[in-house]
Amino acid sequence: MGKLIIQGGIPLEGRVPISGAKNATLTVMAACFLASGETVLENIPQISDVDVMMDILRDMGGDAQWLEPGVIRMNVPDSINCRSSYILAKKVRASNLLLGPLIGRFGWAEVALPGGDNIGTRPMDLHIKGISGLGADLKIEHGYILGGIQGGGKRLTGGKIYLDFPSVGATENIMMAATLAKGQTIIENCAKEPEIVDLANFLNAMGARIRGAGTDLIRIDGVNELRGTRYSVIPDRIEAGSYMVAAAATHGRVIVENVIPTHLHSITAKLREIGIKVEEGDDKILVDGRGPFRPVDVKTLPYPGFPTDMQSQLMALLTTVKGISLIVENVYENRLRVVDELQRMGAQIKIEGRTAVIDGVDKLSSAEVKATDLRAGAALIIAGLMAEGETEICGMSHVERGYEHIEAKLTSLGARIRRIL
Ligand code: UD1
Repeated sequence: MGKLIIQGGIPLEGRVPISGAKNATLTVMAACFLASGETVLENIPQISDVDVMMDILRDMGGDAQWLEPGVIRMNVPDSINCRSSYILAKKVRASNLLLGPLIGRFGWAEVALPGGDNIGTRPMDLHIKGISGLGADLKIEHGYILGGIQGGGKRLTGGKIYLDFPSVGATENIMMAATLAKGQTIIENCAKEPEIVDLANFLNAMGARIRGAGTDLIRIDGVNELRGTRYSVIPDRIEAGSYMVAAAATHGRVIVENVIPTHLHSITAKLREIGIKVEEGDDKILVDGRGPFRPVDVKTLPYPGFPTDMQSQLMALLTTVKGISLIVENVYENRLRVVDELQRMGAQIKIEGRTAVIDGVDKLSSAEVKATDLRAGAALIIAGLMAEGETEICGMSHVERGYEHIEAKLTSLGARIRRIL
């Protein structure tokens, strides 16, 4: 696992282009399994999760290639092997999004359960309940979710699904399965994340009939078949938010470019509450972190609430904001694990259940720390940029899963950062 060495204390200055969204990309790649033939995807980030998803397609009998930086071609044949390999699936959780496309198109799926990870248990009960509600018989056996259409039928049947929790993945899986079902499907209390809207736009470009994405009720009228297309995914709101927080945390001044500012409103609002100047343009946001800063309370919630994927990065920033800040993690039970590492850098944080109580200190001090998951890695990089001295972060493979060219981007903003193997 690679290490990153950061010389802290330098304000970030300049402009940084934001890449395509990891989560939208992985979902759209899974959706390619719904059509035979070629699909070209643009604005794709060069990150390891995308490469693993390409390997999964190849392993199942399809083909996937980088055509140029930011552009991939996916090719799905008329028939494929409907079983995903556990060896690959455990490397990228989003492989669980193959369940809906495989059942919807081929009437059969054997999808490896990726298992829990460092941010908490990640069950798939809502995915299974939803797709079963469309007429699938699914069971968990030998580490796989497997099954087909009831009575050996060829197509699912539309139905009304109510999600107990607006799960992003379950909404996506049900939506994809329903595109080729007979009749209409309604998903109530569904997730409203921008990635859901992007998936609906992509599926509609393939010939699906989906309305209501972005609200809490989605209607899908099943069609007979979908076709390959060309599509450009949305910018990564979490990558953008991470650079915004890094700019503020170093008291710098940065413009994040190629973003959709409305996707970032919960983050922008929280940064302004802290006292950070944030100005929105059409597709860019300026962050000026000269302060002074105030402590805040934050709760993670499904969109449009504050994203759990930004919680660790914001925590790093709050470690040096004078006063008491509270962070309540409502989405994943173990996502406060970065606290142990931040404490090694001098942060004063107490955990009470799902709440982190942060008592701002004057400065963080450099240390050797370990990234335990993708967003914890981003938080430690931000902490390293803030700290006095040289911070050494190991576990960089987690960060490579989701941040394209992070060293080059930070270096272009003036950070002193280098990689050792
Ligand atoms: C997606 C994102 C992830 C983000 C998360 C929440 C992708 C590839 N990943 O993950 O980066 O952190 O949304 O915004 O898009 N749950 C159940 N049963 C289920 C499904 C989920 O109990 O069947 C629970 C989970 O354990 C978790 C919560 O619901 O506590 C949210 O999960 P979900 O919205 O499904 O997240 P993912 O789609 O896995």
